[in-house]
Amino acid sequence: MLQARQTERGASRTAVMVAAYRGRATGRDDRVCDDPWAAALAGEEGLAFAAKYDEAFPAVELWLALRTRVLDGQVRARIADGIRQIVLLGAGLDTRAQRLASEGVRYFEVDHPASQADKLERLARLPSYDRAVAAYVPCDFEQDDFLDRLVAHRFDPKLPALFVWEGVTYYLPEASVLSTLHRIATATAPASVVAFDYARKKFVHGELRHEKDIAARDRVAEMGEPLRYGTDDILPLLHDAGFRRVRLSSFDELCLNLTGTYERARMFRFQQLGVASVAADRLASEGLP
Ligand SMILES: C[S@@+](CC[C@H](N)C(=O)[O-])C[C@H]1O[C@@H](n2cnc3c(N)ncnc32)[C@H](O)[C@@H]1O
Repeated sequence: MLQARQTERGASRTAVMVAAYRGRATGRDDRVCDDPWAAALAGEEGLAFAAKYDEAFPAVELWLALRTRVLDGQVRARIADGIRQIVLLGAGLDTRAQRLASEGVRYFEVDHPASQADKLERLARLPSYDRAVAAYVPCDFEQDDFLDRLVAHRFDPKLPALFVWEGVTYYLPEASVLSTLHRIATATAPASVVAFDYARKKFVHGELRHEKDIAARDRVAEMGEPLRYGTDDILPLLHDAGFRRVRLSSFDELCLNLTGTYERARMFRFQQLGVASVAADRLASEGLP
């Protein structure tokens, strides 16, 4: 009953929960990411979602903080490379358009219409946040062509872009994930880059042995956003989509590089980060630790 599709339900609750975690992470002395608007955007509702999810996945705050930090690094690196269009696919309560604003750089936030309307209401209550920093592009990835939608909002497919796809792939059907990758590779400038996270197949569909792993999967389904896509081998899929430069990292590896720590019990083994381009120079090393 709680497994309604995104089109039938309201705004994404996982987006609110993720923002709450970013807010919590930002409040730490040894912070891994820094998002001064996240806590206010998520509010008490987000904190309550997070408190419940903590029980299933105690290290989730650190994982999300790492994810935001690494993808922030991608945005900075690509801007330094000269990219002037940043697209946040499934933007949720992402605040990069404000946090990482840069002269001449245009941000596009693509999200499900219900999630986007909710975000705009939340932003309206934050006078210090300039809503005009991004173009807001409503789109259901399962029904609409995100690129057509972007072009209707003055995105230029002939100029290179960075597509940040954070915390979204596992909530989509495989066909939507593959068609999104294919569209980026074949219908945008060859120097465009997509940076995204994805989950291993076992976490999404497999027989999980540990109670907490099962709970981590079940809790998001109970929030109305069941996990739907995972893969253990994304390289061939990226190749078939048209990408020729790829960098893949595990979150255990990213965590070790950024914090100097590793703990198996953190459950980071199911999450991966991918960065891909058809032809971007210097992709392999830039922006990742
Ligand atoms: C976990 S949230 C992540 C939000 C944001 N990227 C972040 O990391 O804070 C998942 C996001 O994916 C979006 N999403 C999920 N399915 C979608 C669909 N079919 N079409 C458009 N957006 C979708 C939700 O609206 C939500 O904003």
